[in-house]
Amino acid sequence: MRNESFAIAVAFCATLSIQSHSEELIIGDERAVTRHLSLTELQTLDKDQINQHGRMLFDAKFTILDGAGRPAATSAEVPVKRRPGNTPAFFRTAGPDSNACNGCHNQPSSGGAGEFVVNVFSAEGVVNHEFDTLEPQFSNERGTPHLHGSGFVELLAREITADLHNIRHKALADSQEKKKSIKVPLVSKDIKFGTLTVHSDGFIDTSKISGIDPDLIVRPFSQKGVFTSLRQFSINAMNAHHGIQSNERWGVQWTHTNDFDEDGFDSEITSGDLSALVMFQATLPLPVQIFPKQKLLRSAVKEGELLFSQVGCNTCHIKQLPLTSLSFSEPGPYNAAGNLRASDESYQFEFALSKSGLKKDSNGHWLIPVFSDFKRHVIADAEKPHFGNERLSQRFIPNQVFLTARLWGVGSTAPYGHRGDISTLKETILHHGGEARTSRLAFESLTDLEQRKVVEFLKSLQLTKLENSL
Ligand code: HEC
Ligand code: HEC
Repeated sequence: MRNESFAIAVAFCATLSIQSHSEELIIGDERAVTRHLSLTELQTLDKDQINQHGRMLFDAKFTILDGAGRPAATSAEVPVKRRPGNTPAFFRTAGPDSNACNGCHNQPSSGGAGEFVVNVFSAEGVVNHEFDTLEPQFSNERGTPHLHGSGFVELLAREITADLHNIRHKALADSQEKKKSIKVPLVSKDIKFGTLTVHSDGFIDTSKISGIDPDLIVRPFSQKGVFTSLRQFSINAMNAHHGIQSNERWGVQWTHTNDFDEDGFDSEITSGDLSALVMFQATLPLPVQIFPKQKLLRSAVKEGELLFSQVGCNTCHIKQLPLTSLSFSEPGPYNAAGNLRASDESYQFEFALSKSGLKKDSNGHWLIPVFSDFKRHVIADAEKPHFGNERLSQRFIPNQVFLTARLWGVGSTAPYGHRGDISTLKETILHHGGEARTSRLAFESLTDLEQRKVVEFLKSLQLTKLENSL
C-alpha cells in the first residue's frame, strides 16, 4: 500500500483502537499493519489493491501494537481462556510461535513452503495449551506446505462438496417418494467416496462413506484434511501463531467481549482484512511443470510420468481434476459458525482465478493439475509405520490416516511428508503403506533406473517465485 510505505511512524499508544487507525504519518510507528479494511471499503478498491493488502498482511511481522500476543487466550480454534498468570510472549511449542505468516511459508517466496526448522506443534490448544515438550502425545508436529494454487484447491473442494450434497438430497427425495431404502454411490469428478444408504424415514447411514467426513464436506486444508476454507485456516493461524484475533471467531457475539485475549486491542484483524488475505493466498501462482534442459533428463521426466501412472500412484495422486468455474466468492458456502459465512448478510466479495497455464477438457472444464483425490487414506501399516508417527488424535481421525498430498510443486518443497522429516522423494515413496501398499510394491518392483525416472518426474513439478515484491 502506498500510504503504508510512507507511514513510518506512530506515537506509542497501547490502548489505540485498531479500527480507528488513521493513515496519517506518525513518527516512530512500530505497528506492522497501519491500515485495516472493512468489508465496505473492500468494495471501493480494485483487485490489485486488495491483493496487495492481503500480501502485506501475510508478510507483516506483527507487533504488540498490532495486538500480537494472546496473554489470556490459548491457540484453540474455539475461544478458550488461559489460566491466569505469567505467560511468555513467544512460545516455540504452544505458540504464539512466530511473527509473520511468511516466517514459515517462504520457500521459494512468500506463500511458499517451509523446511523442518519452521515445523508447527499443532495441538488445537484445548487440553494441553501450554505444553513445553516435543513429546508426541502433546502435539502433532507438521511441516509447512506451500499455498500456491490454493484458490483452485478450495474451489475444487466446494464443487465436490456440492455434488455430494446433491446426491444426498436426491437420494432422500427418492427414498421418501418410493418409501424404501436407497443406496447410492458417492461419486464426484470420478472420485469415489463410498456409498450412502438413505432410509425412507430420513435416516442417513454414512457407515460406508470413504475418505470424507459424515457431513460430506471436503476439507482440503491441513495435511490431515480437517479444515474447510482458506478463511477458516487463516483465522486459526492468525490466533495460533501470532495472537492476532478476529472478531468473527472471538468477538462479542461469542464471548461478550471484543478483547478476548485481554491484550488491550479489539478487532485485531477485520473481516475485510481476512478477505484480502484469502485473496492473496487464493491467487498465488499455479504450480508448473518445468522440464530440465538436458535431453537425457527430459525424456526421463516423460517416461517417469508414464511409470507414475503404471504403478498406480495416480489412483490417489490424480493428475488433474476438472473445475467448472474459476469464480471465487468469499466467504465460501461451507464455513461453519465462527467464520464469516456466505449466508451472513454481508458483502460477497468475488474475483476470478487466472486461467493462465490451464487447459480445458472436452466438456469445457478447466483441468487443474493438482495430483490429489481430495480424500483421506490409511497411509501407514505395521510394515511401513513411518507415516503413522503421530500420537494425538485430531478430530477422531485415526493417526495413520492423512489427506492425499497434492504433488504439484513437490519438486520445490523438500523436505517431505507431513512432518517434513524425509529428505528424499524416493524414501518418501518407500514409506507408503496402508492403502498405498500395492502401489508401493509396484514401484519397488521397477528397475532402479525406472524408479529414478519417477523421481525425475516428481522433481519437474515446481513452484514459481512470486513476481512482484511489495
Ligand atoms: C510457525 C510456522 C507457520 C506460520 C507462522 C504459519 N503457518 Fe500456515 N502452515 C504451517 C504448517 C506446519 C501447516 C500444516 C498444518 C497441518 O498440516 O496441520 C500450515 C498450513 C497452512 C494452510 C493450509 C495449507 C494446506 O495446503 O493444507 C494455510 C492456508 C496456511 N497455513 C495459512 C497461513 C497463514 C494465513 C498464516 C499467517 C496468519 C500462516 N499460515 C502462518 C506453518 C505455519
Ligand atoms: C492410497 C493413496 C496413495 C497412493 C496410491 C500413493 N500415495 Fe503418495 N501420498 C498419499 C498420502 C495420503 C500422502 C501423505 C503422507 C503423509 O505425509 O502423511 C502421500 C504423500 C506423498 C508424497 C509426499 C508429498 C510431500 O509434499 O511431502 C509423495 C512424493 C508421494 N506421495 C508420491 C507417491 C508416489 C510416487 C506414489 C506411487 C508409487 C504414491 N505416492 C502413491 C497417498 C497415496
